[in-house]
Amino acid sequence: MGDKGERALWGSRLGFLLAAIGSAVGLGNIWRFSYTVYDNGGGAFLIPYFTALLVAGIPLMILEYALGHSQKGSTPLAFFKISKKWEVVGWWLPMVATVAVLFFYAVVIAWCLDYFVFSFSLGWGDDTAKFFVNHYLKASGDSSVMGGFNVRVAASTAIVWFVCWLICYREVNHGIEKACLVFMPLLLILTSVLVVAALRLDGSMDGIKMYLKPDFHKINLFSNPDAWKVWTAAFGQIFFSLSLGFGIMITYASYLPKKTDIVGNAVWTCIANSAYSIFTGLAVFGVLGFMAHAKGVGVADVASGGGKLAFIVYPTAISKLPFDAPWRNLFGVAFFLALVVAGISSAISLVEALVCALTDKFGISRGGVVTFLCVAGFLGSMTYVTGAGSSIMDIVNPYADQALVLGGLLECILVAWIMKAAVARKHVNDSGGVHLPKIWEFVVKYITPTVLIIILSLSATNLVKQFYSGKANVAAHVMFGIRGIAITALFAWGLTMFKWHRKSHKPEDEHLLT
Ligand code: PFF
Repeated sequence: MGDKGERALWGSRLGFLLAAIGSAVGLGNIWRFSYTVYDNGGGAFLIPYFTALLVAGIPLMILEYALGHSQKGSTPLAFFKISKKWEVVGWWLPMVATVAVLFFYAVVIAWCLDYFVFSFSLGWGDDTAKFFVNHYLKASGDSSVMGGFNVRVAASTAIVWFVCWLICYREVNHGIEKACLVFMPLLLILTSVLVVAALRLDGSMDGIKMYLKPDFHKINLFSNPDAWKVWTAAFGQIFFSLSLGFGIMITYASYLPKKTDIVGNAVWTCIANSAYSIFTGLAVFGVLGFMAHAKGVGVADVASGGGKLAFIVYPTAISKLPFDAPWRNLFGVAFFLALVVAGISSAISLVEALVCALTDKFGISRGGVVTFLCVAGFLGSMTYVTGAGSSIMDIVNPYADQALVLGGLLECILVAWIMKAAVARKHVNDSGGVHLPKIWEFVVKYITPTVLIIILSLSATNLVKQFYSGKANVAAHVMFGIRGIAITALFAWGLTMFKWHRKSHKPEDEHLLT
């Protein structure tokens, strides 16, 4: 809220777009996308990926923007204004995203920050795997063996949360908007430098061919019984990458002015995010191709995704780059700085979703809420600063994906069925900008929910199968996955017991306050 109690607005459309793109473009684009493409059929994966974008990504982005903009409120307030009973879901979405994603996401940004520093001296040595797992993380390799508390990682995580605090402390138009006006161009420059440098390496083209070489069998639902996993991965990637189901885009849209181009904004956010993902993939696989060439092995032998790619494979490649001394180090500096910038611009968006929710509800000062959340976030992140941290991350990850898809499904039900898709579409078209065609109503009412229900059931069945086959550690799943979902739901429900503060309502909403 502004000084006089009215809601802050983005300073410009560009500022809003860069903030939304900043939320979407994150660690997921750099270390998750290209490997997911490679591992799930290469160029052929782009078919399920773009299908997921058209069936769920763009329609839900429009839906989240329309919801936040029409209700002028954070996720719980927007849900509450449509149906009082749904407030609990509005709290649960950003809360479960914070617990299941942001707590560990901040720690991974902290790793990137440390590796950014190591890059100057190539401090990871010759055995990058041993350095990362044993020396740096001091990982125990088991979610039940806590191991020691890692002071170095804890200190870097504190820096990450401090930066989030610094940016979020001020209203969005002064804090997040200004930060993203610097972060996003910087990220584009860093990534372009990485892509150009990677493409000049011997063997880079082999890597890129492997990245995009289509394998249609992998995605063929009729001939391949495992193809559904590829399709689920495509939807998971779209949700995570576009920050859908977190409550973030609803919050960001609530700061848009009355007249705005909702469809145009949604389409631009989605295009920029996918274009950035595909573009960074060139740098990732260009370097993997070079590594394979230098070692005289196939690209498949060096390719990997996630933490292994960024903290083990990439550092090895950087040490081997055929550039002269400072340039080799600077390649590492640029890579890890890009990860830090992309990560922070996503993390602040989720902090904002909760800040906005709490200030809307209690009418308390923004600064106090931001301080409380960043300290709580830092403490939550400490789970991942022990030797068990990376093992717990592996367990929590699939639950986060499921929670986001479930969030998307609940949003569809709320807007398309309770608020009514036609009302939402009318709001979008009355706000100006690109016209939203009637087919959108059909998509969000029937197509998107059906597809999301199928995806959720397939993943749930798979998890149960893993439990029965003994492949998953049931106790660890209950402890870190199922318990997290239950506890956040309980807290969400507890928050609905309090009354909404008057400042978050317009006079015509007075009836909602009783
Ligand atoms: N869109 C982000 C990414 O692809 O990395 C996902 C994200 C993670 C958003 C954590 C917000 C957040 F706090």
